[in-house]
Amino acid sequence: MTRDLIYLDGNFTPRTEARVSVEDRGFLFGDGVYEVIRVVRGRLFAADFHNERLERSLKGIDIALPHPVARLTEVASQLLRDNGLLDGEATVYMQVTRGVATRSHAYPTAAVSPTVYVSAAAFKPMTEFQKTGALAITQPDLRWGRCDLKTINLLPNVMAAQQAVAKGAFESVLIRDGRITEGSRTNVFGVVGNSLRTHPCNTRILPGITRAVVEKLCAELKIDIDETPIRIDEIPSLREMFLSGTTTDVMPIVKLDGRPVGSGKPGEITLRLQKVLDDEIYARGN
Ligand code: PDD
Repeated sequence: MTRDLIYLDGNFTPRTEARVSVEDRGFLFGDGVYEVIRVVRGRLFAADFHNERLERSLKGIDIALPHPVARLTEVASQLLRDNGLLDGEATVYMQVTRGVATRSHAYPTAAVSPTVYVSAAAFKPMTEFQKTGALAITQPDLRWGRCDLKTINLLPNVMAAQQAVAKGAFESVLIRDGRITEGSRTNVFGVVGNSLRTHPCNTRILPGITRAVVEKLCAELKIDIDETPIRIDEIPSLREMFLSGTTTDVMPIVKLDGRPVGSGKPGEITLRLQKVLDDEIYARGN
């Protein structure tokens, strides 16, 4: 039987035995941040980018770790080894909450150690779906004003994702002020006329690691990206659309709200970027 150890507050523990206090502020307030990292044959893809983003999220909500964030990547590597996940594919989940304290909204006055959790699991990419493309729906973006921080406070994302499931779609594309921001768990790109467009990295979206890799690949391929948000009135003229994310890679969207996007098949730029991203993840690594 394969082992399933997780890391919690300095200890490697079987997943089924790990316990978090009911007074953990992550449990009570969603007061914490997280990362999801893609792993191929034991190698964490774009680990430095994830570390930087985790550091930024921690700083953004005033949590200080007692060690450098890179320590968590070492922990992740050990989990991958100990759990027999060095062959094939996996994902690593990292979460840090403000810690355990009697419930009171403001930060605890006494020094509290953050709760640090890391786990690893086998992963299967959605290869078939990536070939045929997926369906998406639009939903209002009901989130807060700091979507650039990767917090565990994900209720609007959870509800938008559920709306997609209820409609038989893969993802909800979120709309704020008449513009596409991102997906419930992905960034969104679209081709309008001859330009590849995506929302700029500001407080309205998460600066996706896959988005950053796609931008780098576009620069290599001399494909310009116009960071002007796609307006809802431009949706009917979209020629292509795709999502990017750690667990979705480049996912073509072939129908939005039941209407075909472009030809109703994965677009040319989308498939090109899907291929080069695949090469990056599987061959070159980071
Ligand atoms: N979600 N936007 C949101 C709101 C996200 O939650 C995510 C990632 C992304 C894509 O970011 P990245 O390329 O770094 O994965 C964009 C992760 C995978 C999750 O919550 O499971």
